Amino acid sequence: MVRVLFVCLGNICRSPTANGVFRAMVEQEGLGDHIETDSAGTHAYHTGEGADRRAFASARNRGVDLSPHRARQVREDDFHRFDYVLAMDRENYDDLMSLSPSGTADRVRMFLGFAPHLDHDEVPDPYYGGPDGFDRVLDMIEEAAAGLLEEIRTRHL
Ligand code: 4NP
Repeated sequence: MVRVLFVCLGNICRSPTANGVFRAMVEQEGLGDHIETDSAGTHAYHTGEGADRRAFASARNRGVDLSPHRARQVREDDFHRFDYVLAMDRENYDDLMSLSPSGTADRVRMFLGFAPHLDHDEVPDPYYGGPDGFDRVLDMIEEAAAGLLEEIRTRHL
């Protein structure tokens, strides 16, 4: 089993979307029994809440259902449990590196590192922007999710 955790700040916009998109790809490829996924936030502001309704609507337009999501904060045991702990932006990355128990820092990576052809290395925070932001975020997430799945196939399956 390969385990992947997607991490952003609030765990209501970017990381639930990344988890939903990646999970849908994994299921479509018949790899659901081999890859476990989850998402979390570096902060606890929104613990217990569902996905942001704009993220929910944008994902639904692409056939991805975020209704099962409930926000939670990253915990210490996540760094032992998950093989990939994937940060949406640099701030998330720095926070995760500070939180990571010894021997686990190599599990922390930038999610867009799996889409090296994109112009961006961070998924921009859409929380304070307009609805367009969520579609741009989805485009980036789809690219990086495909790259991540390819890496997992090559290295682990
Ligand atoms: P996310 O977006 O990190 O992609 O879930 C945000 C959600 C909430 C806040 C910031 C970013 N907030 O400040 O409450």
